[in-house]
Amino acid sequence: MSDIVLCKTPKNPIILGIESSCDETAAAVICGRKLLSDEIISSAPTQALYGGVVPEIASRAHTDVIDEAVSRALKSAGVKKEQLDAVAVTYGAGLLGALLVGLSFGKALAYGLGIPLIGVNHIRGHLAAAYLEDETLEPPFITLLASGGHTAILYAKSEMEQQVLGSTLDDAAGEAFDKVARVLSLPYPGGPNIEALAREGKPTVPLPVMLKGAGGYNFSYSGLKTAVINYVHHKEQKKEPWSPADVASSFQHAALDILVKKVAEAAHEKKVGTVTAGGGVIANGYLREELTKMCASEGFKLVLPEKKHCTDNAAMIASEGAIRYRAGIFSPLTLNAEAYIPLM
Ligand code: KG4
Ligand code: ZN
Repeated sequence: MSDIVLCKTPKNPIILGIESSCDETAAAVICGRKLLSDEIISSAPTQALYGGVVPEIASRAHTDVIDEAVSRALKSAGVKKEQLDAVAVTYGAGLLGALLVGLSFGKALAYGLGIPLIGVNHIRGHLAAAYLEDETLEPPFITLLASGGHTAILYAKSEMEQQVLGSTLDDAAGEAFDKVARVLSLPYPGGPNIEALAREGKPTVPLPVMLKGAGGYNFSYSGLKTAVINYVHHKEQKKEPWSPADVASSFQHAALDILVKKVAEAAHEKKVGTVTAGGGVIANGYLREELTKMCASEGFKLVLPEKKHCTDNAAMIASEGAIRYRAGIFSPLTLNAEAYIPLM
């Protein structure tokens, strides 16, 4: 018997995940928590020509490649579509036109095969990525969420129940990386380019420590972003020399150290033994090292999704799909795409 047939049980369904909320067209197949395939076709190189994601270009790119992404995912998993138990697809948040491509494709496939459709909140997908990294992972645990649209610390009580302990009051961490990247004239995507530049610099530029209004487990990135902009403008106006690499390094420290500190506080307060993380910013090498060091010194187990499962992907959507399948939560075929969904 094949591995897939052996893996499949009512608790370990075979799920096709589809993600198309921004510029990645992604499809993946999982069986329970076992990843069978993971395909991504990105329009990022085209978007980079315009300095950011152009929604219309993203929608058209999804339309061009969605069939190919899904076919490749089924083929490399060695799964026939008739073997699928459900189709899990991102229905929000994201770019409406882009979401509609994946959602419509997912609906048609589920309807044609007579299997359930599971609409997935993209952010819950990011939170579910950790389950693929460690098949033994069980709540309770603390999760650090840091993406282009969200920054939050959550307490996972069960697979389904997440409590937001705190979140950003203004910009998200990823958004701040992208805005600072523009000030430093770095190309899209901003986050990885700041990380690369920061490796060549030192954190010597004095930047404000995030505090005012951002007590508890809340964050505030707009003050930090403005401080970087002011620093650069001031230096340029006075025609004084300055180092973009030192600014990148200083910003990266100021933006990320606070996340690690607050995660440690939350894990101690909630008396959990495990910390997880999700979202594009968690792909940052400096943040991963600092989280690893903190968890080692404080005695927490750290479950970090691999980098390709931190940025947008379909494996995480399938993972959240499996959780909802086990809970018996399915979506009607009338499900619509949502540009914005509250965090919880
Ligand atoms: O999770 P994600 O791929 O998309 C959203 O759901 O928002 O996150 C994208 C964000 C962008 O703001 C991007 O600049 C940031 O994650 N990001 C990074 C890194 N890779 C992606 N930020 C810092 N360092 C990175 N290596
Ligand atoms: Zn995302």
